[in-house]
Amino acid sequence: MKPLIAPSILSANFAHLAKDLEMINRSEADWVHIDVMDGVFVPNISFGFPVLKFVAELTDKPLDVHLMIVHPEKFIDEVKTLGAHTMNVHVEACAHLHRVVQQIREAGMKPAVTINPATPVALLKDIIHDVYMVLVMSVNPGFGGQAFIEHSVEKVSELRELIDQTGSGALIEVDGGVNLETGARLVAAGADVLVAGSAIFAHKDPEQMIRALKGL
Ligand code: DX5
Ligand code: ZN
Repeated sequence: MKPLIAPSILSANFAHLAKDLEMINRSEADWVHIDVMDGVFVPNISFGFPVLKFVAELTDKPLDVHLMIVHPEKFIDEVKTLGAHTMNVHVEACAHLHRVVQQIREAGMKPAVTINPATPVALLKDIIHDVYMVLVMSVNPGFGGQAFIEHSVEKVSELRELIDQTGSGALIEVDGGVNLETGARLVAAGADVLVAGSAIFAHKDPEQMIRALKGL
């Protein structure tokens, strides 16, 4: 099965965002990955809902919203208003993860839970039946262009085993340091969705790179 590809606009040129979004619309990308940061949960700030309103208007692919913020449950309505397909919340940011996952589903979006590099797959055992997707961070969240953490490949295999054993059907998405080389190993380990920022936007032909990732 070919992986789904979700270009992360964190690495796009924000002064020419419309141009980059048009490229994604034309491309073989499956989703658009949107990274919201608050400067508290992660040591960086990206963009907020006033900007994303225009991103949503210009995009014709499903939006995969990754919230790197504390209390993501406070923003379920805002993410829904964007028309998001998937809402990703960090396990580490939610004291009542089960409740948040149900609230996302009740709002009509697909709930996804995200784990940081130091968070074990085992922590997902009691939520795996309730989620549409698990997002495995293969860098510490907050910045694009960081080096891939090798252990992530093993984590994907472990998660694949948990999903297959439990019959949960959750998708596995991976985010951080994904390129053709790491992407191929992640797909072999069982990843369904690859997020890529710098590998796409730093490439001289981003549309071609999306096609290459899609071909993995
Ligand atoms: C990092 C973000 C990623 C980021 C990935 O915190 O969640 O989505 O854009 O960037 P690359 O692909 O450059 O590692
Ligand atoms: Zn992300």
